[in-house]
Amino acid sequence: PDTISHDPTRILVTGGAGYIGSHCCVELINEGYQPVILDDFSNAQPGVVDSIETITGKRPPVIAADIRDRAAIATALSDQRIGAVMHFAALKAVGESVRLPLAYYDVNVSGTLALLGAMQQHGLKTIVFSSSATVYGIPDSLPVREDAPRMATNPYGRSKIIAEDFLTDLFAAEPDWQIAVLRYFNPVGAHQSGLIGEDPSGIPNNLMPFVAQVASGKQPCLSIFGDDYPTRDGTGVRDFIHVVDLAKGHVAAIRHLETAPGLMTLNLGTGTGYSVLELIEAFIAASGREVPYRIEPRRQGDVAEIYADPSLAGTRIGWQATRTLEDMCRDTWNWQSRKP
Ligand code: NAD
Ligand code: WQD
Repeated sequence: PDTISHDPTRILVTGGAGYIGSHCCVELINEGYQPVILDDFSNAQPGVVDSIETITGKRPPVIAADIRDRAAIATALSDQRIGAVMHFAALKAVGESVRLPLAYYDVNVSGTLALLGAMQQHGLKTIVFSSSATVYGIPDSLPVREDAPRMATNPYGRSKIIAEDFLTDLFAAEPDWQIAVLRYFNPVGAHQSGLIGEDPSGIPNNLMPFVAQVASGKQPCLSIFGDDYPTRDGTGVRDFIHVVDLAKGHVAAIRHLETAPGLMTLNLGTGTGYSVLELIEAFIAASGREVPYRIEPRRQGDVAEIYADPSLAGTRIGWQATRTLEDMCRDTWNWQSRKP
């Protein structure tokens, strides 16, 4: 490889203008790192970079490029003297992945391959990868540990399993790589400033942004997809995790990799499941608004209940989530209610 001079504090954040990536940029800056954003802005607004600057006082450089463009990535790695990569850039809507499987494999699989190829070309070997609890499919025991079997139920999930396998095979061949595969449960919430958060285009697919839009009057009514699951109140149970806790988990992972080569796969969740109805109650309390809902049939592909065993992240990287469901709802509402 054509080795460049790496600065370990300079982190390429692919998808860094997106929901989770933008929060990671803030936490990286808070911890003395220098994020460099690479994003094609297909699901992000350029104004996010201004908000990161307002929050932190530092403006990350931005490279507008496609994650499948290996040459552009290679140039970014050397020009920016990148020391490590956090790879968020991906397509992430489960339903859309069923309709557009090739687009999902192209961005999520070929994009990851292009990135790893560019890294290898420059002898850069440190990466944190965004995986998902979706790789567990229908879990056969709870809480879910990292050694549970993986099973994809849709092309999005399969794209994450394939990318995880790329990393496993690469590490087997080149054991001096430093790789963290982080499996997120259900990221929600926003930065406490209310300046960055999740901004889905069109009708939200996920529960929390939909609830927030109903509370603000942007959507008239929430559909609850099923109240006949074998859970405590019949609605689905999920491990909602505050996006700032998630971002702090990434910084803990990068820090750990600096001194400990290896491949680690970690759940990032709180370990506690809340039901759809419990989240709605908490949101009503946090916002002081009403959230009208009606019960609809189950959504295809949903599991009744899933929550993490997050203890491995505690022992391996010294991370655990600290923010409560109340914090998640308050910060989501603060973000939602500041929007024009
Ligand atoms: P997001 O859509 O907000 O962020 C993804 C970013 O990548 C966006 O800024 C988008 O513009 C960019 N992007 C998309 N395609 C690109 C391409 N071809 N080239 C360059 N940039 C591109 O999504 P997010 O919620 O922040 O998710 C970040 C990562 O976390 C994704 O890999 C996602 O699969 C994973 N993840 C998300 C969740 C979740 O519920 N949000 C859960 C588990 C895992
Ligand atoms: C949560 C609960 C729904 C919307 C998805 C992806 C997963 C990961 C996180 C990326 C379920 C119910 C939802 C609504 C509802 N993303 N619900 N009405 O499905 O757990 O996870 O996002 O990796 O891969 O699958 O999250 O927020 O869509 O649903 O009743 O309008 O809320 O049925 O029980 P999910 P979600």
